[in-house]
Amino acid sequence: MPIDVAAHVVANRALSTDYNVLSLAAPGLTATAAPGQFVMIKAGHGHDPLLRRPFSIFEVLRDERGTPTGISILNKRIGVSTGLVYDARPGQRVDCLGPLGRPFTIVEPPSEAWLVAGGVGLAPFAELATALRGRAVATVLFYGARSGAELFYLDFFRALGVELVLTTEDGSVGERGRIVAPLDRRLAAQPAASAVMVYACGPEGMLAATAKAAARHGRPCQVSVERLMGCGLGGCYSCVVPMRTDDGRLHHVRSCIAGPVLAGDQIFWD
Ligand SMILES: Cc1cc2nc3c(=O)[nH]c(=O)nc-3n(C[C@H](O)[C@H](O)[C@H](O)COP(=O)(O)OP(=O)(O)OC[C@H]3O[C@@H](n4cnc5c(N)ncnc54)[C@H](O)[C@@H]3O)c2cc1C
Ligand code: FES
Repeated sequence: MPIDVAAHVVANRALSTDYNVLSLAAPGLTATAAPGQFVMIKAGHGHDPLLRRPFSIFEVLRDERGTPTGISILNKRIGVSTGLVYDARPGQRVDCLGPLGRPFTIVEPPSEAWLVAGGVGLAPFAELATALRGRAVATVLFYGARSGAELFYLDFFRALGVELVLTTEDGSVGERGRIVAPLDRRLAAQPAASAVMVYACGPEGMLAATAKAAARHGRPCQVSVERLMGCGLGGCYSCVVPMRTDDGRLHHVRSCIAGPVLAGDQIFWD
């Protein structure tokens, strides 16, 4: 069950001029949080913005005994709300509703897990990778950004034993170009008998390309979609995604309650 809390900001770490990690004390909220779920946050108290905004749960924070104490979010500043999250100060209260939505389905060995992240789409993968590595699942993170300065938490994933495949648009780190290119090559080279689950989060064009590449190579793919969300609870229909039923018909789902994690091959991408 989601709960609504006025969460204290315990830390705000700037990663760049656009990205930060905001840590929130919210013990009750973490009790049932699963990788891929999100929270609806409002960091300001005026009427602009009026509505909360969705953010993936980046990390579940724990004390020295391992008891969950709160969450962090990985934020990219693009507008008013994300600007307020970037500027939030320790001690400030942030309205926080969650955990919300359907999480990723986590595979077991011998299946491998290939995580595909574009930019701030890295956000749900810290907890997902932790859960996968806790089950000893061989995990690869395909992570693309505009430049090397926008590739974050690489040491965190390395410490978990996650293999990293990196791309940048300016070629400053890893392969130059988009992340779907090395993914596609690796999918083509993977023996058909080995099981792979593809997980993706990032801009819609990247999600579509990833889902189509996975489908072309006969691999299942879970995508975390980022639609505009007014309520996060199924009430406003701002977040609908066109999907196909098993018999090929079009229907629309509210991605805040049916998702944000959806089957990539069931979404109408065009
Ligand atoms: C389930 C979910 C999880 C998310 N997790 C994160 C996260 O962990 N970290 C993070 O930084 N962001 C995340 N987002 C995106 C985040 O919610 C938006 O960036 C935020 O709502 C923008 O609010 P704003 O007031 O700053 O920008 P606004 O002023 O509302 O918008 C600024 C500009 O960005 C566009 N825009 C707004 N939202 C989106 C969107 N979702 N996709 C594409 N364009 C958009 C607007 O059309 C406008 O042009 C997530 C979105 C969803 C649906
Ligand atoms: S965000 Fe309101 S119905 Fe999905």
